[in-house]
Amino acid sequence: MATEQTLEESCEEVVRVEGVVKDVRPGFGLVKKRILSGVSFSVRRGEVFGFIGPNGAGKTTTLKVLMGLISATEGSATILGHDVSEDEFRQHVGYLPEHPYFYEFLTGRELLSFYAKLSGVPRAKRPARIEELLHWVGLEAAGDQRLRGYSKGMKQRVGIAQALIHDPNVIFLDEPMSGLDPVGRRAIRNLILRLRSEGKTVFMNSHILSDVESICDRVAIIVEGEIRYEGSVSEFLGQTEHSTDVVLEGVSQEMVHQLAEQCQGTHRELKGRIEIRVPEKQVRLLLQKMLECDGEVISVNPHRVSLESVFMSTVEG
Ligand SMILES: Nc1ncnc2c1ncn2[C@@H]1O[C@H](COP(=O)(O)OP(=O)(O)OP(=O)(O)O)[C@@H](O)[C@H]1O
Ligand SMILES: [Mg+2]
Repeated sequence: MATEQTLEESCEEVVRVEGVVKDVRPGFGLVKKRILSGVSFSVRRGEVFGFIGPNGAGKTTTLKVLMGLISATEGSATILGHDVSEDEFRQHVGYLPEHPYFYEFLTGRELLSFYAKLSGVPRAKRPARIEELLHWVGLEAAGDQRLRGYSKGMKQRVGIAQALIHDPNVIFLDEPMSGLDPVGRRAIRNLILRLRSEGKTVFMNSHILSDVESICDRVAIIVEGEIRYEGSVSEFLGQTEHSTDVVLEGVSQEMVHQLAEQCQGTHRELKGRIEIRVPEKQVRLLLQKMLECDGEVISVNPHRVSLESVFMSTVEG
């Protein structure tokens, strides 16, 4: 046991996926279909890792391989240094499935109590832990209501609470923001950041790129069963050349064309004004040119590259 703990504690790569291939046969006698084509990536200790990609890219399939729910056709996957087919490390892992199903006749508190028992939380610690989690996911008031009466977002919240009940070190969340209203999304974002501050490792599949951008340290992008990018969010955003939007007023069409050409920019009309987008290094030249003519500079804004725009260009190839 002591050596096992050492292995788990010393493992800097909490999740390691190497060359995972997954083939399925969609039906009897049908040709096999390749869902994952040699997926490799790793998740480091203490980070929030975003696994993103379009619908049908293979995110949930990868997560199912990691959870040992399906086996890989080829390749290997380890969590805390253990092959995912083993069981001992599972006490350190929490999991929110993509479509969680819970017994609807239980109340939120009863459900969490059931999972606390199932995952070995000591009896004396259960009540406080349940209340803490109901508070974190904003369900204190609905704790005694049966799940049958829960909305989609409430079920999602109780699912997240369930994944955290035994205070796991590594948490896997398949679309944690799914079905949540903006207040709920913020609560879950804050909860994930809180987990990170406690030194936990969080792996999340998500479509909501603004959330991924604000909370994830690193991301991997999967498209059609292949990893297209793995790295830090800031590096990913930094791949695109920075540009600046300069809004002008009182300049003739001819002048606009000239300015855009000289400063290697593009232009468009914006509510009766003209916006010229130029590479960062051309801003000075553009402003100098403006001083020489009668026009007015309304604003100069560095163009913020969003994860969404970089993601779209990565996915579209
Ligand atoms: N058991 C199966 N039999 C046949 N095809 C499958 C099976 N499981 C998954 N697939 C296919 O594999 C592909 C990947 O599915 P997966 O659920 O992993 O995608 P995803 O990235 O999670 O998508 P989403 O964003 O919609 O949740 C899809 O084309 C899906 O139809
Ligand atoms: Mg999915």
